[in-house]
Amino acid sequence: MSKVDVLLGLQWGDEGKGKVVDVLTPNYDVIARFQGGPNAGHTLEFNGMKHVLRTIPSGIFHQDKINVIGNGVLIEPRIFEQEIAALEEKGVDATRNLYISKKAHLILPSHRMLDAANEQAKGNAKIGSTLKGIGPAYTDKIARTGLRVGDLLASDFKERYELLKVQHLQTAHTLRFDIEGFRLEGMTLEAYEQQWLSAIETLKRFRLINSEYFINQCLRDGKKVLAEGAQGSMLDIDFGSYPFVTSSSTVTAGVCSGLGIAPSAIGRVMGITKAYCTRVGAGPFPTELFDETGRRLCELGHEFGSVTGRPRRCGWIDIPALRYACMLDGVTDLFVTKPDVMDEFEEVKMCTAYTIEGKETDELPFEFNNVHIEPVLRSFPGWKKPLAGTQRYTDLPEALRSYLDAIEQSTGVHIMAVSISPDRKDVLFK
Ligand code: GDP
Ligand code: IMO
Ligand code: MG
Repeated sequence: MSKVDVLLGLQWGDEGKGKVVDVLTPNYDVIARFQGGPNAGHTLEFNGMKHVLRTIPSGIFHQDKINVIGNGVLIEPRIFEQEIAALEEKGVDATRNLYISKKAHLILPSHRMLDAANEQAKGNAKIGSTLKGIGPAYTDKIARTGLRVGDLLASDFKERYELLKVQHLQTAHTLRFDIEGFRLEGMTLEAYEQQWLSAIETLKRFRLINSEYFINQCLRDGKKVLAEGAQGSMLDIDFGSYPFVTSSSTVTAGVCSGLGIAPSAIGRVMGITKAYCTRVGAGPFPTELFDETGRRLCELGHEFGSVTGRPRRCGWIDIPALRYACMLDGVTDLFVTKPDVMDEFEEVKMCTAYTIEGKETDELPFEFNNVHIEPVLRSFPGWKKPLAGTQRYTDLPEALRSYLDAIEQSTGVHIMAVSISPDRKDVLFK
């Protein structure tokens, strides 16, 4: 019986999960997404080509590997169809090696409308959602009113769809939302709905399965399974800076319910962190930099959302938050990305603790959103040379190695590898 290894983001998303999963895929037989949906944007680069995946696991470019969209994931058929088309353009036929759980829930066009309506109703307290309908679709799942992929095959699907849509329209109306004026990718709700309904046919071409049986059979057969997280632990519905979070369990526990495996079936947990920190959307970010250094991190790191194009907020690495994520996730191995972004920095800083109302702590307070947090910063000398071309971990500059050692010491987790460029080939295993 083999186990499911997990790879997930330890910060506020965009740590480089797509790249790392792509790098690790040759070691696995199955790559499975367990939560989130098209709010994710996972970037892969190789052979001079760049590709952003949304709902499809990042193992898809390895055509001999099975990719699974698990029951915990949300699928928006129209976005999914576009993803499939983009893969086809690159010569990838995903119908052969992509399996989809019948229990995965669907994002309706009206869920996306409700996402916009909810954000509008929040006024100044907006979450900064990617507006892909994530919150409303998970709301319906929990309220037991959602529609699932397997329902597409039922003869009364259209009636159930209409019923749910009417409920959504009523809610939007109650929120005084301008339904007529609403545009989805430049289209009215009705026009978009037509495209969405026809995209269902694309979805039906795939192998729709009871993925919990499939995954567990794979484990019994000794196959190696990698679970690919979306978002990051600090955006988790329970442990993130609520309500500035996404609506799913982004931590390791989410793998069990999102794929249908037992906790005892979890193997290694690989956690990814950038060598600094970013966040897109609203919510607390104790180490955020509003100065020239923050702007440099954004510019040199190309920190713009892969889904929305929004500039990401940037700051120093946050050890209290990282330790918290390592604790929640049971991280066994750390993967550090993007130190190359700071190649030219005179100094690099690390937040080792928080000062809240004059008291130092390394715990994230319940009042995370409402108290002023002053980061306690430790300074490290910069390495001031390009990392490009480095072949081995041991060839990394001494100054960077000291910085990485400090990350290991403060989290108590060893670093398994460092990534030094967006490209698949630039990963240095320790
Ligand atoms: P994900 O959502 O965690 O998969 O991450 P994203 O793809 O949204 O954002 C990570 C960005 O950083 C992408 O543009 C990647 O191509 C890029 N990237 C990943 N690893 C590295 C790295 O080690 N160095 C640099 N400079 N860029 C990287
Ligand atoms: P990947 O998988 C970064 C953020 C949004 C917003 C909040 C809620 O690429 O790392 P939602 O659309 O889920 O209702 O948005 O969560 N967010 C992400 N930030 N990376 C992501 O995914 C994200 N997915 C959602 O910006 O603040
Ligand atoms: Mg991303």
